[in-house]
Amino acid sequence: MTTYSYSSESPVDVKAGLLIVPVFEGPKPGPGVRETGLARAYADAKLSGKKNETLLVTRRDRDRFAAGAVLLVGVGPKEDFTLSGMRRALGRVAGTARRFGTAATTFPQAFGARQATEMVPAAAEGLGLGAYRFDRYRTKRDEAAGLKRVVVLGNPKWEARGLSAAVKRVAIVVDAVYWARDLVNTPAGDMPPAEIAREAQRMARSVGLTCKVWNEFQLEKGGFGGILGVGRGSVNPPRLIELSYTGAGRATPIALSGKGIAFDSGGLSIKDAKGMESMKDDMGGAASILATMKAIARLKPKINVIAAIPCSENMPSGSAQKPGDVITHRGGTTSEVLNTDAEGRLVLADALAFLNERKPELIVDTATLTGACVVALGGSIAGAIGNDDALIEELIAAGDSTGEPIWQLPLYPDYRPMIDSAVADIKNVGERWGGAITAAWFLAEFVGDTPWCHIDIAGPAFSDKGTDLSPRGATGAPIRALIKFLLDRAAA
Ligand code: BES
Ligand code: MN
Ligand code: ZN
Repeated sequence: MTTYSYSSESPVDVKAGLLIVPVFEGPKPGPGVRETGLARAYADAKLSGKKNETLLVTRRDRDRFAAGAVLLVGVGPKEDFTLSGMRRALGRVAGTARRFGTAATTFPQAFGARQATEMVPAAAEGLGLGAYRFDRYRTKRDEAAGLKRVVVLGNPKWEARGLSAAVKRVAIVVDAVYWARDLVNTPAGDMPPAEIAREAQRMARSVGLTCKVWNEFQLEKGGFGGILGVGRGSVNPPRLIELSYTGAGRATPIALSGKGIAFDSGGLSIKDAKGMESMKDDMGGAASILATMKAIARLKPKINVIAAIPCSENMPSGSAQKPGDVITHRGGTTSEVLNTDAEGRLVLADALAFLNERKPELIVDTATLTGACVVALGGSIAGAIGNDDALIEELIAAGDSTGEPIWQLPLYPDYRPMIDSAVADIKNVGERWGGAITAAWFLAEFVGDTPWCHIDIAGPAFSDKGTDLSPRGATGAPIRALIKFLLDRAAA
């Protein structure tokens, strides 16, 4: 556990294992370098503040700074500097910060109070997110390593109370992201649907959320044919996790759902070996919604939020659903399952229909739904498709501010007939091209006229190489955007 704080003490005096000093690109190295007496070292190392440039200087007896070491970090030209740039620059050096245990950070220039309200939490968030490691399965791990404390240093003229509170909120957000990453990174063998549900219940108890878990028998009674159909091939039975947060009395709730496929083998329409390697991440949508609910319960905005998270494991076996089978979803809509690997939409359909019965204000779902979305937008960008442009805009804006890019794809009406079925109401696959859009058309059948946005996170949920803010594996996207979206809604 890391503690996060804000302080207006001087960088020279701060007692920390590591003092991080971001530096703009240019001929002069900026105030932090001069104050710490490192202008000479900076020049001698031929630094120029280019992005990704770093210099680590450990303290010698006569040094002017109290920290154990100073890390100068190039952040590129001042004109290009953004909130996201600050977050990412600190994410990249978080691994170094872990070695020193405690880290304090300054800024490359004195910001105005307005900018500080965004920059201070972004700095804390970058360090927190970047310091995540998943070492549960390593037998040789360094128990002592890890980021114990983060201190963001600011100008004494800034309003310290507000900034301290903002940094405390970052701690809640980062904790939620860590939890989601752990859930996704844990191998599917140790994280079947029932275990995801137990994790949800433990979380709900710890933060005071209402949680109800539906088991396979209850799902049967409730008519959840999609969740059951997908789960039929696995020895690990499916679950539906229902969570609710009440922060605004009897106000109409916002509804969330997330795809929770514990493992996606493809089912009988089986994937090849490569295609399965990262499919423990197919519950990234579920984890993002669970984590969002956890953070919201602790941040306590004045809104109501309900979530329904369908969890199944998609496996081939003698009891698995077969291509050509017809299933009946919650609410009665039938679908023809032509490809058992298009399973995400089947479980989400039930959850969306269930949520829509509550007549929510709007619905947002997140899902590692289609490879097609990754082809369209690459590994870093989520696709947003829905029936309400204003809602989509809001989510895109939230993602912009948290550094979780979301781009809109169209719910193009001409593609709707691609999921017409010869035997049932709809079928679960369209033609080869436009796969992210036909998947969304399938989901659209279950939300009625409720404003709805589906976020396909097949790309950004998981990173094989790691990102500035995450080691390889689960990233937690788009939890921070969802939290921002909900907090902004509550404040509006
Ligand atoms: N979970 C996959 C989508 C996916 C692919 C996520 C790659 C992350 C990386 C989903 O269940 C799936 O298999 N989709 C199929 C749909 C197809 C059969 C219509 C796909 O995208 O190939
Ligand atoms: Mn699949
Ligand atoms: Zn899947």
